[in-house]
Amino acid sequence: MFSQLKQKYIKEISQVKNLKELDEIYHKCIGRKGELTNILRSLKDLKEKEQKQKGKLANNLKQEIEILFENKKLKLTNNLPYQQTNWIDVTVPGKLPDQGHLHPITLVQEEIEDIFQSMGFSVLDGPEMETEHYNFDALNIPKNHPARDLWDTFWLKNINLLLRTHTSPMQVRYMEKNQPPLRIIVPGRCFRHEATDASHETTFHQIEGLMIGQNISMANLKGVLEGFMKRFYGPQVKLRWQPSYFPFTEPGLELLMGCSICGGKGCSTCGQSGWIEVIPCGMVHPNVFKAAGYNPNRYQGFAFGMGLDRIAMMKYKIDDIRLFYSNDLRFLNQF
Ligand code: PHE
Repeated sequence: MFSQLKQKYIKEISQVKNLKELDEIYHKCIGRKGELTNILRSLKDLKEKEQKQKGKLANNLKQEIEILFENKKLKLTNNLPYQQTNWIDVTVPGKLPDQGHLHPITLVQEEIEDIFQSMGFSVLDGPEMETEHYNFDALNIPKNHPARDLWDTFWLKNINLLLRTHTSPMQVRYMEKNQPPLRIIVPGRCFRHEATDASHETTFHQIEGLMIGQNISMANLKGVLEGFMKRFYGPQVKLRWQPSYFPFTEPGLELLMGCSICGGKGCSTCGQSGWIEVIPCGMVHPNVFKAAGYNPNRYQGFAFGMGLDRIAMMKYKIDDIRLFYSNDLRFLNQF
């Protein structure tokens, strides 16, 4: 039965003169209701042994006939003028190449830089590898002092350097080379040796700020940072101040904003408080001025060090810091 069928289609296919005819025969043979299709379908009523045997033959035949069709089709289309082959439809809209875009952290960083530049701050870079001196000692964090434990540190083997745990070392580096009045911000990557969770990463970003002059007071600190927050998040942003402690400030403060993820109701991101600490800051400690070679009786000023990741999380309502560093395109393509 199968070899008859095969002979029949070999003959029919060989006599075909155009693609339309070939298509008709194709349907007659292996279309949905084709002859061979029906045979294949009817196999299921046979006994198992017979079914296996015939099934194999039928499938082989189907493959052979399909090759015959394919070859014939190639032959027919090769003889056609190029435009009628439908191999390439030049009118189909092309596929656009994928276009890159900026990472959400970069977007936020650039926006923050713009706002501070408009307030007269310059933007600087600092080294990611630091000395113990700039990262700790010059910032009034002595060796063996418990305050050092606030910054879990990656130490670099053999070269007596560390990965900066914050951008604050640039305060002293800059003051050593420049005289007041000064206004700078320093965006950069920081590193801490700690377990990761929804709000901690071993690598993250900060923007350090420093404003020094002869008459810079806490009123300036408040004005600059509240002004920044209102421009960045909009005038409706809820703000609150609370005291804090940093060895390099006196006094130390923390600026909080209403949690944007829960709208202030309380959620796991804000520890159910409705508030998020966004800008640690304070008046520069006299010992830091001394370490930089400034006379603390002559100058005063403020410093801050905001965590960019947290600022971005509040801006875009993201509840897990790890998303920024996971390279998941489903996340990144939303920006
Ligand atoms: N460097 C501090 C930290 O990483 C933040 C800070 C900067 C606080 C400047 C006060 C002043 O925790």
